[in-house]
Amino acid sequence: MYENPRLLIDSSNPPEAGSVVWRSPSNIAIIKYWGKYGIQLPKNPSLSLTLASSFTDTQLEYEFKDEAHGGAIDLDFFFHQQPNEAFQAKTQAFLESLIPVFPFLKQLRLTIRTGNSFPHSAGIASSASAMSALALCLCSLEDTLFGTLQDSAEYDRKASFVARLGSGSACRSVFPHAAVWGETSLVSGASNEYAVPVGDLIHETFRELHDDILIVSSDEKAVSSRAGHALMDGNPYAESRYAQAKQRLSVLLDAMKTGDLESFGKIAEDEALTLHALMMCSNPSYLLMQPGSVAIIEKVREYRAATGHPLYFTLDAGPNVHLLYPGEIIHEVRAFIEDELKEYCENGRVQEDWVGEGPEEM
Ligand code: PMV
Repeated sequence: MYENPRLLIDSSNPPEAGSVVWRSPSNIAIIKYWGKYGIQLPKNPSLSLTLASSFTDTQLEYEFKDEAHGGAIDLDFFFHQQPNEAFQAKTQAFLESLIPVFPFLKQLRLTIRTGNSFPHSAGIASSASAMSALALCLCSLEDTLFGTLQDSAEYDRKASFVARLGSGSACRSVFPHAAVWGETSLVSGASNEYAVPVGDLIHETFRELHDDILIVSSDEKAVSSRAGHALMDGNPYAESRYAQAKQRLSVLLDAMKTGDLESFGKIAEDEALTLHALMMCSNPSYLLMQPGSVAIIEKVREYRAATGHPLYFTLDAGPNVHLLYPGEIIHEVRAFIEDELKEYCENGRVQEDWVGEGPEEM
């Protein structure tokens, strides 16, 4: 939908070399996206909270090169200051796939320097922050060269669209606080092509929520999300799952509008367990929780029953447990993590995060 063959640099008037830099956060889905079709289009709408302390910084340097229309993308890539062949190849392929959207890319020599605020092998998904940071850089580059993205809503929409092509869930990281991705009549303007911001629709409780990520294991994921989504195609529960996600989104949005933490927490936990259950009954089957994940979940439930504190968990497609809670109980929760949960974390590792203001141009 954003293909634009006219976005080409006039070689008789080439731009000066320059660079753009973005910092973009990860996000944690409350309603999970699991199952896709076409080019990274979701089978159900999802809703996520935008995080703050887990982010990627990406600098995109560009320089006009003479051999215009040369075809391939000319890219040097550095991850934490080091060349990284695997990331370079992935990024190169992604940029090549984007030539219809940004035809000027083949007229430039590009250097990407990128790095995360969290250790690469921390078991924290970095594709959402990495792909959204890159998408924002590409939109900034387009705007610098052509002035075509002056309208900030249009800018964000295109950045979200491009991020989605890189990694579905990345499209939600473009917006502060919270975002919905996927067609639904519940949110005006919602689309399968890009996410839309919903931070303004929700109660301030959720704009200030904490998310402490308990790293149970930093091992590489047992199943890539690409393979995981594909497994939904043969899953006997797929259709009822998609209907369930739509129905839960409606309940969740009401809870988030009114500040109903209890209903929010119930859905967050149900969604996490549903995601894992779907993987357990896929063919082949995957069991992505580890004994430590299960122990933490049980402890959180006991803690809630004993204290009445609104502490809830969610999980991504892996063993690490995200603990969601409001700032009022931070001291109690941190003490609980220290005393009872850290023993299940790899090297006692916890990434403290919270709902954030979205990406920043640096
Ligand atoms: O964006 P992907 O393809 O890595 O898929 C992400 C899937 C989950 O993280 C499990 C759920 C979600 O909505 O973020």
